[in-house]
Formats: sequence, structure tokens, C-alpha cells
Amino acid sequence: MINVSKPSMGDAERQILDEVLESGWIGQGRKVFRFEDECKKELQSKYFIALSTCTKSIEVALVIAGCRPGDEVVVPSFTYASVIHVILKLGLVPVFADIEATDCNISVADVERRITPKTKVILPLHYRGRSCRIDAIQELAAAHRLKVIEDAAHAFGSYYKDAPVGSTSYMSCFSFGPLKNICCVEGGGIATNDEEVANRILTYRNMGMARSTWQRYNMENAKPWHYEVVAAGDKCTQNDVGASIGLAQMGRITEIRAKKKAMVERYLSELPLEKGMEIPFMDPKSDFAYIFSVLAAAPWREKLMAHLWDRGISTAVHYYPNHLQPWFAKYNNGKLPVTEDVGKRVITLPSYTDLLESDQSYVIDEVKKFMKQV
Ligand SMILES: Cc1ncc(COP(=O)(O)O)c(C=O)c1O
Repeated sequence: MINVSKPSMGDAERQILDEVLESGWIGQGRKVFRFEDECKKELQSKYFIALSTCTKSIEVALVIAGCRPGDEVVVPSFTYASVIHVILKLGLVPVFADIEATDCNISVADVERRITPKTKVILPLHYRGRSCRIDAIQELAAAHRLKVIEDAAHAFGSYYKDAPVGSTSYMSCFSFGPLKNICCVEGGGIATNDEEVANRILTYRNMGMARSTWQRYNMENAKPWHYEVVAAGDKCTQNDVGASIGLAQMGRITEIRAKKKAMVERYLSELPLEKGMEIPFMDPKSDFAYIFSVLAAAPWREKLMAHLWDRGISTAVHYYPNHLQPWFAKYNNGKLPVTEDVGKRVITLPSYTDLLESDQSYVIDEVKKFMKQV
């Protein structure tokens, strides 16, 4: 079976993992802090705080932004369901915005239409690693005194107008989950340029304690056993095991980026664009692709996926629109025509770092064969 996605693990990961397992410290420690430094350098942000997942990072960001129950968060319906669960868990109201047909990123014009006096945050996604029009979103947010929290789960290492994606907003949340380009098994983190925000996140991730366990026992030796809870908090730290894998991956980022770029370029040049097949816009020079998606003509989406599955090729749907999910139906605020169209047509093709050229040829050939017969 050719998987739709697969982690890229090798000797570098094994070696650093051995080191951390032997070190006597596997919780949040030196490896996490080194991973944070590497992320900060890549993102050119003043601060980067590693957390347990991107889902938790979005939750923490909404809390730190001062959201209160009843506040509205404008978010694409075309996103990962965990984002909507987090909004609801905090008693906030998801207000779904449509996407643009060109690249399936959030529509700035539709965001503007959805802003009300209750809106507190705009939460855009950079779908597949291609940045949304974040400068226009930031302008809109500034005009309405709203906060921008970027869902950059797909976009670590991507660029927008020469700046790293996630380096310019109030807070940006990243994922280092099992299938992301840079993976910590599970992992997330928040980039910000605001010192006060960074300090609040640091305390929050550590159960509201002023000093972390590592600080108490390794850096500040006055009464290391003594701790004090001084603020609201949660337990959502990264650990040295996950961070060590992340560090090994960061050491390979140039190689991973090059492989992903070659994979995207090949799909872009060789996939057949006929009979209603489209590819949402991607620029392999700036977009560090997390996944590669196509839009099949609606009547053929399921048939094409079944055709590929029967021939040993696994595919996926990123995403079924959230406003059409039974659990979120209460928040369905009317038609989102582009989201609904794309939701019926989108297919993620195998697009992982170590996808073999021969396997990609087979995927492309099978898509072509199917297109010939429809
Ligand atoms: C768009 C989007 N947002 C948020 C997340 C959550 O990331 P995590 O799995 O690290 O919690 C994901 C996960 O893939 C995602 O695709």
C-alpha cells in the first residue's frame, strides 16, 4: 500500500533518541529549550514556546488572548475539527467563514462580512502550507480591534512575501504531530513577538507555577522543592523525548524541504487537468507543502478514491466542512458555497517526504488512467 502520509524517520532520530533516553531526564528540559531555539531561528520570531500539541496551543492562545464565553471567533469551516472543539470547549462561538476558490484559504471578504460587535479573534488557517492573505487579515483585524491567532499547523517553514509564515501575528500556533513535515511524534507551539504574552504562556504551560521543574532543580538552586501557583494554567508541556526527535528533524529541514518541493513540482507538472480536475494554487518556492490536494469533479471524487484504493494507493479528505458536521450543526450560519463545493471535491494524494519517485509515478499513472475512462 502507498500511504497517503508517513513520517520520515532515520538514523538522526534514532541517535538523538538514544541520547535522551540515557540522559536521566525525559520530561521538559534541555532538548525542549534547544528545539524552541531552533524554531525561533526558523520563524524569525522573538519567542517560541513549545507545547504538547497544536490543538492545545490554539486553546492556550485563545485563553491568553482574553477570550470570554460568548465571544466570537471567525474561523474557516474548512479546517481540522479539533480547532472547532477547542473554541466550543472554552464557551466561545465559532463563526464560519468561506474560503477562496484559488487556494482554498480563508476569504478575507467573507471574514469581513462575518465580523460583529462580539467578534474577538480571527483564526485563519494556512491550508496545506500555503499562506492565506495574512497581511489583509491583519489589516482587517486592526481596523476592528481584533486579535489574529494564526493556525499555522500546516505551515512551519513556509514563507509569505519573504517573511516566515507565523512570524508577524499576535500569536501563531504550529503542529509537530506524527505526519507533519517537522515532527515530534506529538507536538505544538506558539510563536509571538510579544514578551508579556510569551511569559504568560510559559507560566500557563507549567500549571501556573512561577518556576518550572527544570528551573527549580537545574538552574535556580534555592529551595528547589518549593513551588507556587501564581496564575491560571494547564499541563501542556513538550517533553525531551518528543523534542529530541524534533531536533533531529530540524537538522534535516533542508533535505525534507527539497524532497517536498520536488514532489509538489512533479504533481503540478504531470497531473492531468481535464474533465473538471483542478489543483488549488501552490507555489513550491514559498510553500513548504504539508499535503498535496487536488479537486476532482464532484461526481467522480469517491470513484477516483475507490479506484486508487483498489490499486493500493491510499488517499484522504482534508476536509469535510465543519459547518456540515452533525456535532457542529448548531453553528451552521448559512451557505458557504466555495467550502461546500471544495468539500465535495477535495482529495489528498500521497504526499509524504519519503514518497519514492516510482510510487509517485504509479499514483500519477493511475489518476491518468481513471481520468481517461470517465
Ligand atoms: C488545520 C489544523 N489545525 C490544527 C491541528 C491540530 O494539530 P495537533 O494534531 O498538533 O493538535 C491540525 C492537525 O493536523 C490541523 O490540520
